[in-house]
Amino acid sequence: MRVAIVGLGRVGKSMALYLSRRGEEFLGGYCSREESTRRALEIIGGGRALSRKEIARAELVLISTPDSEVEREAGRIAEENPVLEGKTFLHLSGSLPMDVLEPLRTRGAEVGVLHPLFPFFDLEFSLKNLEGSYAGVEGGEFVKEIARRWGFSPFPLPSFRVLYHAGAVLSAGLLAGYISYPLKIAQELGIPPEAYLRLASLVLKAVGEKGLSAAVTGPWSRGDFATVERHLSAIREERKIYELLLSRLQEILSG
Ligand SMILES: NC(=O)c1ccc[n+]([C@@H]2O[C@H](COP(=O)([O-])OP(=O)(O)OC[C@H]3O[C@@H](n4cnc5c(N)ncnc54)[C@H](OP(=O)(O)O)[C@@H]3O)[C@@H](O)[C@H]2O)c1
Repeated sequence: MRVAIVGLGRVGKSMALYLSRRGEEFLGGYCSREESTRRALEIIGGGRALSRKEIARAELVLISTPDSEVEREAGRIAEENPVLEGKTFLHLSGSLPMDVLEPLRTRGAEVGVLHPLFPFFDLEFSLKNLEGSYAGVEGGEFVKEIARRWGFSPFPLPSFRVLYHAGAVLSAGLLAGYISYPLKIAQELGIPPEAYLRLASLVLKAVGEKGLSAAVTGPWSRGDFATVERHLSAIREERKIYELLLSRLQEILSG
C-alpha cells in the first residue's frame, strides 16, 4: 500500500519507519514547518516532502498532527482535493471522534480512526515494541483489517471518547508520574532504581495474570497497620498519594 503521513512528529516518524519495515511503500508527507519536514524525512531515510495536493497520491493517508490540528488540516486537504474517491484517511488520536474527518469523507474518501495504545517515546523503542499493541478503531471493517495487517489487535473505540482517552493516559503518562515517587525514594536512599521498577513491573504482570485483588500484597493486605502508620510518618510529599491509594486498595480488598 502507498502510505503518506501528515504530521511527522514522534508518532508520524515511528509509523513511517514501522510501516516501511512491514512492506508498505512510504511516499512521504509534511509537517507544519518545512524545516521539520526536511529533518523528519532525513531521519526516516525515505519518502519526500509532499504538498497537500500531492498527499492524495497515496492510497492511505495517516493524519498524525497534534489533536488540535486534525480537523483543521482535514479541511485544508479537502479544499485542495475536490475528488478523493478510492483514498483512505485515518487519524491516530484517541481523544477525537471520526467526524473530524468529515470534510474528507464528503470528497469521497473512506475515513476512520486508528489509535495505537502505545507510548511513542522514541524511534528505537517504537520499532522494537509497537507490533502486537492494541489499537482502538472507528470506521468500517476496513479499519480493523488495516490494524491487523499492521500487527495490531483492534477493538472498537467507545463513543465516550474522553473517558477512554483519560483511561489511556492514566495507564501511560500518569503511571510514569506515579512511579517517579518510589524512584525518588530510591535515589534518596542510594539503592538501585531497577529494584523498585522490577517490583512494579511484576505487580502489573500479576494484575494481568491473577486479577486486581489477588495482586494486592503489602502491609494493609495482612493487617500490619502499625507498619502503614510508620510509612506515613516517614514520607513527606508522597503522603497524599499513599493515603489516596491506600483507600482505593481497601475498596478493592473489600470487594
Ligand atoms: N504520543 C503518543 O504516544 C501517541 C500515542 C497514540 C496516538 N497519538 C496521536 O498521534 C498524533 C500525533 O502525536 P505526536 O505525539 O506525534 O505529536 P508531535 O510529536 O507533537 O508531532 C506533531 C507533528 O505534526 C506536525 N504538525 C502540526 N500541525 C500540522 C499541520 N497543520 N499540518 C501538518 N503537520 C502538522 C508537527 O510539525 P511541526 O513540528 O512543523 O509543527 C509535528 O511534526 C496525535 O493525534 C496524538 O493524539 C500519540
